[in-house]
Amino acid sequence: MKKLLVIHGPNLHMLGKREPGIYGAETLNDIDVKITKKAKDSGLDIEIQQYNSEGDIVERITRSDFDYLIINPAAYTHTSVAVRDALLSAPKRVIEVHLSNIYKREDFRKKSLVSDIVEGVISGFGAMGYIIAVDVIAQWAGNDS
Ligand code: DQA
Repeated sequence: MKKLLVIHGPNLHMLGKREPGIYGAETLNDIDVKITKKAKDSGLDIEIQQYNSEGDIVERITRSDFDYLIINPAAYTHTSVAVRDALLSAPKRVIEVHLSNIYKREDFRKKSLVSDIVEGVISGFGAMGYIIAVDVIAQWAGNDS
């Protein structure tokens, strides 16, 4: 069974309470339940983690014990050379997901330090973005097995 790791970055544990006009009313747990169901229905082994600190994200990525990664680096998207370098150190097929459309917001959010080293980016579709990403990965897993 192929293993999918999902990493949620800083402040995403606050979903539901945090700027609901931008990020929606669902909690992270609500979203994780949907991701887990979709992954299991697609025949994937799934692990989901949320980290507020950059070092924890780097450590988890560089353990490299997974086949595919969905990552919402949240604020680190725009700042973290360390997360970028971790992704380069442990090369896997990666999809970058954002709940909001980062290109429709402040200028500093328009730059992602990881977009050019991942397979693709899904931004602006809320929690549905994660489900779309799992769908893509399920197809890769089918072709890779
Ligand atoms: C986010 C967008 C980032 O700019 C922001 O810092 C987040 C969430 C998103 O999912 O839309 O925390 O990654």
